[in-house]
Formats: sequence, structure tokens, C-alpha cells
Amino acid sequence: MDNYVTGAVIRRLRESKNLTQDALAEKIHVSGKAVSKWETGQGFPDVSLLEPLAQALGISVIELLSGEDVRNRNRSSNLRRGKFYVCPICGNVIHAVGEAVVSCCGITLPPAEPEETDDEHSIRVETVEDEYYVTLGHPMTKTHFISFLVAVSDQGIQMIKLYPEGNAEARFKINRVKFLYAYCNRHGLFRKKL
Ligand SMILES: [Fe+2]
Repeated sequence: MDNYVTGAVIRRLRESKNLTQDALAEKIHVSGKAVSKWETGQGFPDVSLLEPLAQALGISVIELLSGEDVRNRNRSSNLRRGKFYVCPICGNVIHAVGEAVVSCCGITLPPAEPEETDDEHSIRVETVEDEYYVTLGHPMTKTHFISFLVAVSDQGIQMIKLYPEGNAEARFKINRVKFLYAYCNRHGLFRKKL
């Protein structure tokens, strides 16, 4: 985890729940003075209190630690606006269709911001029968390679994991695909609109 829970976060969340310090304290069986100390930076809640504290504030422990209160107001999520999170440590790839706080290998991951493709990361697309044959002329060495390719439609995503020394290529069902994404381990996420 990047940071431990801060007093400012506890105060903000407590106030947004319209709880007094005493009311919050009562829910988690501590004194009002203890809550006051946390909020003014004179102490931290014991780690054993994180779970009950998060519960009392109506959020998850990871939201509490990241200081972000995640709410998806528009529950009809839009796949085309989905986000990719890539763990720099283990290479895990997580796709979210709405707002999320994503943690892997002990760090909170920012969403990968897609860039328009450039010369080194240009995505070539050929139509072969009912598939897109997608290739990149990008290096595929152990230290610099395309680690995954994704085709996104309004109905779902198709993701192909790639490996160093393999080919930077994939086949995707054409089925309403609107965007192609390629992720370079050094240069990040690139997007091509179809
Ligand atoms: Fe690259």
C-alpha cells in the first residue's frame, strides 16, 4: 500500500456520512478522543481497526487506504470507456468498465492512459475473412515488447497476451470492434480507432 490512512481522509469520509466523531467512535468501539487524534494527525488507527473503520464509513479498506471513495453512479457501464490497469511488478492486466481502485502486488495502480499510436507503435490491421489480423512492427525483446493486444467493442473485449520473442500479432473476431489497444512495456498504452 502506498500510504496508511490519513486523518484528512477519515474526517472527509466521516463528514460525508454525517457522523460526529463520537458517533463514529461508538461504531468501532473506540473513544471520541481517539478519532479526534487521528483526524488531527496525532496518531493512527491501529491496523486491526481498518476493517471496522472502513465498514463504519461505508467503503472498502482499499478505498480507505487510497483516500478515494469510489462510486459508480452510472451503473450501465460503457465498455468503450473501460480502463486498463497494468501492474509494473508482475505484469497483471486488469480491465474495469467503471471507476475502480485497483491494487496489485501491494501498490495502487493508476489507469493506463491511452495515447494515439505513433510510428514505433503503429497498429496494422488486415481483414481476413471474419477476423482482423493485427500486427505491429515493434521489437519483441525481453526488455522491450508488446505485452498485450485488445479489441474493444460495445459488447465486450478480446484480449491476447503476448510474450517476448513471440510475434506482435493477434487475430480478433470483427464483431463490432471499435478500438484496438496495444500495450508496450516501456511506452505504455496505445489506441487505434477503427
Ligand atoms: Fe515501445
